[in-house]
Amino acid sequence: MDILEANIRKMSEFFADKKAKLRPHFKTTKSVIISHMQVEAGAKGITCAKLSEAEVLAEGGIKDILIANQIIDPRKLARLAGLAKKTRMTVCADDPRNVDDLSEAAAAFGSTIYVLIEIDVGMGRCGINTKEEALALAKRINDADGLVFEGFQAYAGNIQHDPSRDARVKGVDLAIAKVGAIKEYVEANGLTVKEISGGGTGSYNITGDNTIWTEIQAGSYVFMDNHYEKVGLVFEQSLTVLATVIHKRPGVAVADAGQKVCCLAAGKPTIKGYPGLSAALSEEHGTINDEKDQLSFRQLIEYIPSHCCTTVNLHDNYYCTRNGLLESVWPVSGRGHSR
Ligand SMILES: Cc1ncc(COP(=O)(O)O)c(C=O)c1O
Repeated sequence: MDILEANIRKMSEFFADKKAKLRPHFKTTKSVIISHMQVEAGAKGITCAKLSEAEVLAEGGIKDILIANQIIDPRKLARLAGLAKKTRMTVCADDPRNVDDLSEAAAAFGSTIYVLIEIDVGMGRCGINTKEEALALAKRINDADGLVFEGFQAYAGNIQHDPSRDARVKGVDLAIAKVGAIKEYVEANGLTVKEISGGGTGSYNITGDNTIWTEIQAGSYVFMDNHYEKVGLVFEQSLTVLATVIHKRPGVAVADAGQKVCCLAAGKPTIKGYPGLSAALSEEHGTINDEKDQLSFRQLIEYIPSHCCTTVNLHDNYYCTRNGLLESVWPVSGRGHSR
């Protein structure tokens, strides 16, 4: 808890005097309780990836939610429009057909949906690429019933984990050049770009440092993980997976925690307090090359995951400790809400 709270405080201190505001990503914590801690520390609202996450957040009392994705399915559009009646909802779009569908849904429910046009700034995932596309979409949104054109979504995920700050700065500069030119063109044609949303833990102090972004969507900073540890940020690791050594023989320790409780996406988990030790994960076991026999039979150990977001989503609860004592048990309330 001390580390988690310090991470939230450090991020809010960074943004205290910046033009951009923090809009932390819910995909990391999937916890409404942590989302409220972030909002109380100054975040303007919460980002999420999925409509079902937005529903959990709205139900939990979060008043300003961005789904940093496109919602296309007609049934989901109806749910989104319904949600927008009770909570401020912003969503991304990059296709005129989707703008028409969003408008139809909002008009049917008598609600207002705020829309960001997604610009591809390096991921090659969703997003438009040209100023002409941006202007045509912005006009379409502006003219549509029930929709408000808010600005742009511009997330450069490709650079977030680069350990070289120069490389991250270069990636952000490329995004600024592209998004800046599109903004200028759209505004020269009479529309206002109010928000530019994007950025993550790896670029929070670059994108968030009084550039063109108005919202930063960092998520992992609250927990950190081994993938982000290599980037060398001010945040510390607060999230571990508790396991027991169930077998010990010379040179090897085996723990009772495998891929069902710890994500392997960015490599093997390391063992907290034992530099150099890591666990090779099968489904239910972690096999640790313990050459110096540092671990012992029945010992409780803690894995530090390579990727925090996809590890959290494997669990029902957080067991929150302070000074070695269990302080609270919090639900991973967004678990399973991935649609
Ligand atoms: C749209 C979007 N915004 C922001 C982030 C940043 O998250 P993090 O700070 O955990 O890297 C991500 C991560 O995948 C993302 O997909």
